[in-house]
Amino acid sequence: MFYRRLDEHLALKLVSGLDAEESYAVVDRERERLREYLPWVDTTNSVEDQRHHLAAMSGINPDERISCFLTLDGRIIGAVGLPCIDRPARWAEIGYWIAAECEGRGYVTAAVRNLESLCFGELGLERVQITADTTNTRSRAVPERLGYTLEGILRHQILSGHGRIADRAVYALLKPEWQTREALP
Ligand SMILES: CC(C)(COP(=O)(O)OP(=O)(O)OC[C@H]1O[C@@H](n2cnc3c(N)ncnc32)[C@H](O)[C@@H]1OP(=O)(O)O)[C@@H](O)C(=O)NCCC(=O)NCCS
Repeated sequence: MFYRRLDEHLALKLVSGLDAEESYAVVDRERERLREYLPWVDTTNSVEDQRHHLAAMSGINPDERISCFLTLDGRIIGAVGLPCIDRPARWAEIGYWIAAECEGRGYVTAAVRNLESLCFGELGLERVQITADTTNTRSRAVPERLGYTLEGILRHQILSGHGRIADRAVYALLKPEWQTREALP
């Protein structure tokens, strides 16, 4: 089973229907905040909905996506994963959300770094990208903190919260850039 320990307390574990109840409780508690940018929150109104959402996140082909919960001492506090892996073209996209109580501690940045090493290492990819609604400052701060390049803004291209079609900021990190960054002290 896919399980990656980030440190003594944090880990990434593969999404499973067995976690539908616990993860739904987190989503439900965070609903008002998450629905600002994550459209699936409005169609997730029960544990059963969450089970369907988790099944969709897992996908049919495990080569094309990896969806994980972020856990703190075994408790689900968010999700960080690769919702799109294009193996032939050797790139992947990273997505994330975290509970408010755990925001601002660097947990998402740590999880993204861990998935970068999976992408550029084991998966042999050449490019990792992160995209966000241009108004989502906290989300954009993650790739900016990690030295990604802002490659452009795709206008009216992302379905954001409240059914809003928003402009999408596209950030990317290439393998040589990652190697240079990781070699820094
Ligand atoms: C977007 C989101 C995941 C970002 O979470 P976050 O907690 O800000 O990101 P991190 O966990 O990497 O934490 C970064 C913060 O921790 C601080 N931090 C503390 N220790 C740190 C460390 N070792 N490394 C990096 N940052 C650290 C940083 O300074 C930063 O604080 P600041 O925001 O006050 O500048 C979160 O805001 C969220 O879930 N939003 C709602 C859902 C959403 O928008 N998802 C993205 C859709 S594209």
